[in-house]
Amino acid sequence: MAIITTRGLTRIYNPKTVPVYALRNVELSIEEGEFTSLVGPSGSGKTTLLNLLGGLDTPTSGEVVVDGVSLAQMGDSELIDFRLQHIGFIFQAYNLIPVFTAAENVAFILLLQKRPCQEIDQRVQELLTEVGLGDRLNARPKELSGGQQQRVAVARALASRPRFILADEPTANLDSQSAMKLLDIMEKMNREHRMTFIFSTHDQRVINRARRVIRLVDGAVESDQIQQPEPHLA
Ligand SMILES: Nc1ncnc2c1ncn2[C@@H]1O[C@H](COP(=O)(O)OP(=O)(O)OP(=O)(O)O)[C@@H](O)[C@H]1O
Ligand SMILES: [Mg+2]
Repeated sequence: MAIITTRGLTRIYNPKTVPVYALRNVELSIEEGEFTSLVGPSGSGKTTLLNLLGGLDTPTSGEVVVDGVSLAQMGDSELIDFRLQHIGFIFQAYNLIPVFTAAENVAFILLLQKRPCQEIDQRVQELLTEVGLGDRLNARPKELSGGQQQRVAVARALASRPRFILADEPTANLDSQSAMKLLDIMEKMNREHRMTFIFSTHDQRVINRARRVIRLVDGAVESDQIQQPEPHLA
């Protein structure tokens, strides 16, 4: 069964004044274990779509169904809880909390979920080790490079074992080497934990590493193709 299905997903900004048709009738189905890239020109609706898939915004019409449940049926607090438990987010700007250490940034969501401290400590250590930062647990974001900060963001997104991870241009602020390293880590999480990823990008080398490429133009799906991902030759 698909993890995410969208039906007639449409988002019009400012419908009453100067309407902007950001998404038009998008029909998508995302299966568990996908490694999918969302592409298209600037303004084509990628961020709008990711926000809707993650329940950060509500559609003008149509719906997003996650594991058979329509997000529209959830009340505000239920949706907040659902996001916390089921969806991992990685944004273009690293969005780490500057006064927290790497470990605290990753632990944060688990603390919100009121998990036992011992479990949190162990999980945080495990995750930061997996993203290659096992020796930087106590570093604050400003002491880390952009690539390292984004790897903390990946660890944080994975912390709650979400159903899927939405990443909006996760490599946009990274040099190409750090970008490829981040993709290596995402790919490993995808392969070893069957974690589903949907990431938007403008970078052709990042697109080449996806197994499915969904292309938006003017808010509509222009093409949706499966491709043989390019292996990363370090
Ligand atoms: N809050 C908003 N209010 C009004 N219009 C908006 C808003 N957010 C986005 N838009 C418009 O909706 C359209 C889609 O924007 P979106 O940010 O989803 O594009 P994108 O594909 O993510 O672009 P980029 O590649 O530049 O990030 C654009 O025309 C944009 O100007
Ligand atoms: Mg965008």
